[in-house]
Amino acid sequence: MDSMKRFRCVIVGGSGALGSTICRRLYKDGAHIGWTYHSGEVIAANLRGELPDSVGLRVDLRDTTQVEQTIAAFAQQLGGIDALIHCAAICLTPGDEIPPDQTQKLPHVHRAGWDELMAINVSSVYFACREAVPHMQAAGGGNIVLVGSVSGTRPLPSPIHYATSRTALEGMARAMSKEVGPDNIRVNVIEPGILEAGVSRSLPGTLREEYEKHCALKRVGTMSEIANVVAWFAQHNTYVTGQNILVDGAL
Ligand SMILES: NC(=O)c1ccc[n+]([C@@H]2O[C@H](COP(=O)([O-])OP(=O)(O)OC[C@H]3O[C@@H](n4cnc5c(N)ncnc54)[C@H](OP(=O)(O)O)[C@@H]3O)[C@@H](O)[C@H]2O)c1
Repeated sequence: MDSMKRFRCVIVGGSGALGSTICRRLYKDGAHIGWTYHSGEVIAANLRGELPDSVGLRVDLRDTTQVEQTIAAFAQQLGGIDALIHCAAICLTPGDEIPPDQTQKLPHVHRAGWDELMAINVSSVYFACREAVPHMQAAGGGNIVLVGSVSGTRPLPSPIHYATSRTALEGMARAMSKEVGPDNIRVNVIEPGILEAGVSRSLPGTLREEYEKHCALKRVGTMSEIANVVAWFAQHNTYVTGQNILVDGAL
């Protein structure tokens, strides 16, 4: 990349607890960023105020056409794409009421919820990457950073459809790394453990306590700790690809 040119990065899920921390971090580093939101109108308005020359676009990740159009719009408004970060997911889906202090289990997940979760957590990742890759090829290379979860790689009590969707990112990154590696594009999955906010708000308190007990660092992670790793992979990674990187304090 031309050293005089600003680093151009798209963050899908920029309105999330982790996504907004990543946006602030990259903005502080001088990147020209584009980020998405869906229902988080207030957070989006705050981000626009805080990060004035960033580009915030609304997208419904359940709709593949919207995903593709949004990435294309970012490429146009940023003048290209050097990195794509996908940091949007849902953890619970509509269905039967979940008993107190439990995660969503087999009988609570219905077909419509399964399809919705897979559309947001898996399909939108694939189609966002598919749309971004030609822009990275045009830029001479880039980094794709997918945010997964420890529950995609370790046996933990978590909703099965959510864990399945997180593991899917590993296969996606491995195969994609082979296909786009010759174009100098790297693809990796960052897998956080339980964090201080975000999707973990739906976890039973007992699970959080268990996590802290078994984690070597004896605490959950902060958003900044994950954002720092993601930002490094997006901006500075040159030779790591096809990997899933656990950032879980050694569970
Ligand atoms: N927090 C944790 O403890 C934890 C642990 C391990 C892994 N992770 C991973 O970290 C990533 C970010 O999670 P988070 O904790 O930051 O969650 P979060 O605060 O709930 O944010 C989720 C993001 O996904 C977006 N989103 C959800 N449904 C959407 C839809 N239909 N269309 C468009 N956007 C949609 C949300 O947009 P709006 O809010 O604007 O609707 C938001 O930007 C996920 O990949 C998750 O698996 C989190």
